[in-house]
Amino acid sequence: MKVLLCGDMDAAETRVWQQALAAAMPEATWLDTAAAHAQAPEVQAAVVASPPPGSLQGLPNLRLIQSLWAGVDRLLADATLPAGVPMARMVDPAMSAAMAETALWAVLSLHRGFFAYAQRQRQGQWRRHAQRRADELQVLVLGQGEMGRAAAARIAPLGYRVQVWRRDGTALAPRLATADIVINLLPLTPDTRGLLDARFFAALPARSSVVNLGRGAHVVDADLLAALDSGHLRHAVLDVFHAEPLPAGHAFWNHPRVTVLPHAAAATDPRSAAAVAAANLRAARDGAPIAHLVDRQRAY
Ligand code: GLV
Repeated sequence: MKVLLCGDMDAAETRVWQQALAAAMPEATWLDTAAAHAQAPEVQAAVVASPPPGSLQGLPNLRLIQSLWAGVDRLLADATLPAGVPMARMVDPAMSAAMAETALWAVLSLHRGFFAYAQRQRQGQWRRHAQRRADELQVLVLGQGEMGRAAAARIAPLGYRVQVWRRDGTALAPRLATADIVINLLPLTPDTRGLLDARFFAALPARSSVVNLGRGAHVVDADLLAALDSGHLRHAVLDVFHAEPLPAGHAFWNHPRVTVLPHAAAATDPRSAAAVAAANLRAARDGAPIAHLVDRQRAY
């Protein structure tokens, strides 16, 4: 089976993926974009990490597009994406575990005020704040996919009251009204773009906090800044941004109530993800069911 491997990766990352994929599926021939297009009719699958638009054009016999990214919003935004070819998201257990760790760290830090203590250290201030019990806090996880469920399962055993909300489930506003911490792990779709806007923040109780581990475009930045500056929101932990890297001089960089991560909440682990991709490639080759198919209508 000839497989195109391409994406938004530097040479070192490409080598790591080539090695992991070749180890997981030694019977496949792994081709870069130029090689794949030179033998286009023989290429049966593509393994991609947010590839440049147009990369998947002109491959008439593709049976599967396997994303190495969990979020396929950038892939779906490519107007030249071949129609009718099954596409699969990456569901990597190691990535879900890492995401759950980041979510847990954010909840613990917000609950116990550790971000505020870090700020006070920089100001040379020795001052404690009141300590609440975990079971006094309501944590709302937006998104009931692999990562939303993994995060909830990691946080709940510490005693927090955890709720998980999914978009086509119950109304959001009543859930927001009781949330102390909201963690966004929704996929980015036309329905969820800009969901975290002024109305959303106003529906949260005063002094609540927001953790965005989804996509930057879920958030209306100006509305978030306004909610933080007015003191309505206590803190925001942001891993993802409209433009990445977050541009120098952006208000988030030095905002005292914002913690910035460089899209590092959870990376795909090449060792486990290569095995997941290989299983799907073999399924596509053998006409067996493919796991984690993207529904192009729903856009995830
Ligand atoms: C990372 O953001 C991913 O979608 O895998």
